[in-house]
Amino acid sequence: MPDTQTLDISALFGGSSSDYERVSNQIVDVLSKECGFVAIGHPAMVDQHQRANGLTRFFDLSDDVKLSMATTQFEPNNSNCYRGYYPAPEKRGYSDKERLDIGPEPGLVAPNLEGSEILSEPNPWPITEPQDGWRLDSIQYFDDLRKIAVVLMNSISCALDLEHDAINDLCRGRNGTLRLLNYLPQPERSPNSDVSETPEIVDNKNRWVVGREHVDTTTLTLLWQTYPGLQIKGRDNEWRDVLPREGGLSVHCGDLFTKLTSGVINGSIHRVLGDGTHRTSVGMFLEPDWSTIIRPPNVDKELSYAEHLLSVFSGRKKAQASRY
Ligand SMILES: [Fe+2]
Repeated sequence: MPDTQTLDISALFGGSSSDYERVSNQIVDVLSKECGFVAIGHPAMVDQHQRANGLTRFFDLSDDVKLSMATTQFEPNNSNCYRGYYPAPEKRGYSDKERLDIGPEPGLVAPNLEGSEILSEPNPWPITEPQDGWRLDSIQYFDDLRKIAVVLMNSISCALDLEHDAINDLCRGRNGTLRLLNYLPQPERSPNSDVSETPEIVDNKNRWVVGREHVDTTTLTLLWQTYPGLQIKGRDNEWRDVLPREGGLSVHCGDLFTKLTSGVINGSIHRVLGDGTHRTSVGMFLEPDWSTIIRPPNVDKELSYAEHLLSVFSGRKKAQASRY
């Protein structure tokens, strides 16, 4: 099985216009064929790597602190049901993970739509920080990765000669989601583990699915990971492993790409495999402003991103299920 390609994108952040064009064409070429790649060469890559590592220390906090940030689905006394902490199941299985979703800080103003209050939810923050400056680091990492995602969007737009206004509309504002994920190590068999669950091995590395196959409901996703697991399916229907590189960020496309690029680039089908090893990742989902008019797949009309997201949620029980 092949691995995803690694591309040095430093030319997008300064350099000659011919280098910018060359790298932009490489990006479009690899996205249209393999549907993802690992980007290196973005500014302050080593610092970003350390910052991402530090962010995942959130999972070292006590359960009490983490649960004080859990969504109402898990802690009915809490008021947040969109941003915040999603704990792992109490009864352990083979694909357990916990996560923290962080939105723009401060939160965005909600549009005037039924059920839209969740879209302006403030982020819950831990009462004790996992390390000094953790909250500020989270906000900084969110902003830095959002900027990298916007640079990539512009580069793709340039190579495909897309309408400037369409890309600017998708990128303007501050919207996005930063997701910290902690894939727990394989549990010891004990009375508390779910012994009835046996993982189904899906590849020759004895791995099983810990994140099911899907396409993100976004524009672009950047992902930092500590251990292999992410796979992206290319146009040739082959799964490719996305191997972690120090400071590298894997790039894949959300479902808004299909219509935006007239099918040149499709939303990337991806999944996560596990072998029982502990793994953490930090994903940045670039999202349009709530009022931005978008053209989602499988919907004939144009609608605002807020309307689209709320309809996705209502189909999945009001934000209780992941859309990524
Ligand atoms: Fe995803």
